[in-house]
Amino acid sequence: MTILVTGGAGFIGGNFVLDWLANPQAEPVVNLDKLTYAGNLDTLDSLTGDARHVFVQGDIADAERVSRLLDQHQPRAVLNFAAESHVDRSISGPEAFIQTNVMGSFKLLEAVRAYWGGLASQAQQAFRFLHVSTDEVYGSLGPGQAAFTESHRYEPNSPYSASKAASDHLVRAYHHTYGLPVLTTNCSNNYGPYHFPEKLIPLMIVNALAGKPLPVYGDGMQIRDWLYVKDHCSAIRRVLEAGRVGEVYNVGGWNEKANIEIVHTVCDLLDELQPRADGLSYRGQISHVTDRPGHDRRYAIDARKLHDELGWKPAETFDTGIRQTVRWYLDHPGWVARVQSGAYRDWLQAQYGQAA
Ligand code: NAD
Ligand code: TYD
Repeated sequence: MTILVTGGAGFIGGNFVLDWLANPQAEPVVNLDKLTYAGNLDTLDSLTGDARHVFVQGDIADAERVSRLLDQHQPRAVLNFAAESHVDRSISGPEAFIQTNVMGSFKLLEAVRAYWGGLASQAQQAFRFLHVSTDEVYGSLGPGQAAFTESHRYEPNSPYSASKAASDHLVRAYHHTYGLPVLTTNCSNNYGPYHFPEKLIPLMIVNALAGKPLPVYGDGMQIRDWLYVKDHCSAIRRVLEAGRVGEVYNVGGWNEKANIEIVHTVCDLLDELQPRADGLSYRGQISHVTDRPGHDRRYAIDARKLHDELGWKPAETFDTGIRQTVRWYLDHPGWVARVQSGAYRDWLQAQYGQAA
């Protein structure tokens, strides 16, 4: 038995593969990743030589390639993490988001549907397609409005969230129309190790250490609901194991925080763990900059369904998770330096002789 993970060289997919294979009894993983700028094989370094991890560079939109992989490895589940994931990039260049998140998901679903249709009936029943999605599909909440439940109306506001919403709808339709045994998870903002430093928390850590400004959009009072990435991974494992076919599960940490509070916390932890040479606080590097266009004001996840039905709850509080995260970045200057210099992309050149 094998599982196929897409996007397993990215932030969440990479953490998922590492956590999955940390269990000696775990099934092998076939990891299909296009290695965009966000795909980083350094993250999977510790799996070098581990026969349970098969990495394949490829696009989820390449249905023929995906079909061949499915036929070759006969996975009992496909977990789709692959996506373009950064809202700011979706504003300056939406096309890649439509291509991967909409067309890519569609092509992947088509290949999986054909493969699943050819399985024996017992294997068909046991098979799962788990789609990893985001709370951003639900749009923005006002202050005091109830957190997103699974039946909240879809109101995506950015090209990123609109493209993820489209993929969620396709996944739903493949269940209702073709009976494909799907599961969907909609998770809040993640943070933790191996996070690409274009997203808020890792960007603040690396900029602070480099003596650069810490750019806070607008008034910094936008609220996100933060979840430690390893808790997201445990939720996905639990949904894969016991989720009801066709259902959607919201995943969140009950940790609503304003961005400025997050940045203050990161600065305070760095002040404690790696103080500036001049003894001043990193908070002095905070710089309020022009707001993101169409910036959603507040996200909050109601994760009661996942808790009540499947008994999942996060292991980390925000305080423990953010401390571990800052510590991780301080302890892994090599990973950070290679991301910042672009050296993590040398693998592509070495392997395929192509420009990354
Ligand atoms: P990421 O940008 O760090 O990683 C995405 C990975 O997908 C990269 O390794 C990239 O190379 C790969 N990829 C991109 N296009 C591909 C394609 N066409 N074919 C194959 N691989 C491709 O993203 P992430 O933060 O790890 O997010 C993973 C998933 O989780 C996404 O679907 C995202 O929407 C969802 N999500 C993210 C968050 C968050 O806070 N980061 C929260 C909730 C849900
Ligand atoms: P981000 O990490 O990009 O995640 P998302 O937009 O998917 O929630 O941003 C988290 C929040 O932080 C969001 O409200 C935008 C804000 N932000 C900043 O204020 N400054 C920054 O430099 C970045 C990258 C984000």
